[in-house]
Amino acid sequence: MDASIGELQKPFLDARQIDASRSIMGLDTQLIDDGTYFVVETDGGIAGCGGWSRRATLYGGDQTPGRSPVPLDPANDPARVRAMYTHPLHVRKGVGRLILSLCEETARSEGFKSIELMATLAGEPLYRACGYEPCERIVDDRGGVGVPLVRMRKQL
Ligand SMILES: CC(C)(COP(=O)(O)OP(=O)(O)OC[C@H]1O[C@@H](n2cnc3c(N)ncnc32)[C@H](O)[C@@H]1OP(=O)(O)O)[C@@H](O)C(=O)NCCC(=O)NCCS
Repeated sequence: MDASIGELQKPFLDARQIDASRSIMGLDTQLIDDGTYFVVETDGGIAGCGGWSRRATLYGGDQTPGRSPVPLDPANDPARVRAMYTHPLHVRKGVGRLILSLCEETARSEGFKSIELMATLAGEPLYRACGYEPCERIVDDRGGVGVPLVRMRKQL
């Protein structure tokens, strides 16, 4: 995650924005406790990770304020895609696409009709390629510097 955040956002954010983004990204251990987080391994190392959630929090790591464990209603609420990171040595090999498909399949099997996420600019091309459409652009300045983000959604 650290390498992914530090390296892969360089084409989109300046150094201060990358630093600031660390306060609103990273692992939410609730996803591991819920059993909705995937790790893709290759040759004994981690190639990437990411997951989904049936809880209200849209994005953020354990250190991010304002997270909510409130359960979503599959009939009315979109499920969440959360914390997608591919190691810089393993980008463009389909790791992100694989994790997204696992997330969508599992969320669909639990009755969710749509799925939503808050994308970084580095993540937006992956999500567009996988059928997600932007619905809102925001700037999160909780890390001290504004970090642009885009809310995206897909029907399941
Ligand atoms: C976003 C991220 C997870 C993508 O992971 P990935 O494993 O490289 O993605 P995939 O190999 O599955 O890509 C699938 C498709 O998405 C699109 N895509 C992915 N990364 C892209 C990029 N940097 N530029 C353009 N298109 C891209 C392409 O269409 C790609 O298919 P192709 O390689 O056959 O052309 C990775 O870049 C990353 O970790 N970024 C930094 C952390 C981050 O911002 N995470 C998102 C949080 S919301």
